Amino acid sequence: MKISARLALCGWCGNKGDIKKCNKGLAMRVDAKVSAVVTGGASGLGLASVKALRAAGAKVAIFDLNTDAGEQAAAETGAVFCQADVLSDESLDAAFAKARAANGQERILISCAGGGNAKATLRKDRETGAFGLFPTAEFARVVTLNAVGTFATITRFAAGAATLDTLDGERGAIVCTGSVAAQDGQMGQAAYAAGKAAIVGMTLPIARDLGRFGIRVNTILPGIFSTPLMNRAPQEMKDRLSAMTAFPNRFGEPEEYASLALELCRNTYLNAQAIRIDAGIRFAAK
Ligand SMILES: NC(=O)c1ccc[n+]([C@@H]2O[C@H](COP(=O)([O-])OP(=O)(O)OC[C@H]3O[C@@H](n4cnc5c(N)ncnc54)[C@H](O)[C@@H]3O)[C@@H](O)[C@H]2O)c1
Repeated sequence: MKISARLALCGWCGNKGDIKKCNKGLAMRVDAKVSAVVTGGASGLGLASVKALRAAGAKVAIFDLNTDAGEQAAAETGAVFCQADVLSDESLDAAFAKARAANGQERILISCAGGGNAKATLRKDRETGAFGLFPTAEFARVVTLNAVGTFATITRFAAGAATLDTLDGERGAIVCTGSVAAQDGQMGQAAYAAGKAAIVGMTLPIARDLGRFGIRVNTILPGIFSTPLMNRAPQEMKDRLSAMTAFPNRFGEPEEYASLALELCRNTYLNAQAIRIDAGIRFAAK
């Protein structure tokens, strides 16, 4: 089904359905006048977001650790690649400087860089009876990657966006990426669930902090999506996960994530929200 985003959004703006003519600040435009940064933009959900932003005409900078994939994604989409590690303030500062030199000050941040591990909180060795503990450093690494990496990117984005003149009534929009594991994490997901729950938890206070600057923030909680990460899983596991959805019984497509991410940017009244996109999945314990 093809619906023009402009027409679909503008029924209520009083300007004959053309968002370009809307002067009431009811929707942030996503077009050639707007720049965006996408972290984790070299792959999966981030790459789909880069493509959706480019299709809408926006200038895009891809921030990613992976230089080869990032350069390739940039060449394919017409984005700018900025090598970045969201865990390093210096790396983020350099990436934002490069992005702004190429595309101007961004108004949109889609934060997808993140990841997890799978490890039980406590294991008992069947033969020796010895207990194995979840290594503290591995727990900290995953929580830091998701929570601190997202937050450090947001502060830098906000410091730039706050200097902009308002456009369509606001200065910026942020989309963070949590996971349904933040709410129904499975066995072995203690670190990942904690990192993603931290993103959900910070969404409202950040929205409150940044509201005075005209910047909104929302968090998407994806279910299971068909990205390189998930596609590597054994078929038996994919079938089991797909069966946990209400409907449709399949993985989500990255384009479905990107469609929601752009709507969260466009719709000015969406703020401080954590929204699941998951086909009604509720994770079982394993
Ligand atoms: N795919 C899913 O089913 C799913 C479900 C729920 C949540 N998520 C979340 O969505 C986000 C994207 O997942 P994906 O499946 O597209 O993964 P992906 O592995 O395809 O892409 C992640 C990208 O992030 C980059 N990255 C990792 N660490 C980084 C760092 N420190 N600095 C900069 N870039 C870094 C990687 O190089 C990679 O290109 C992640 O935060 C993930 O936890 C994914």
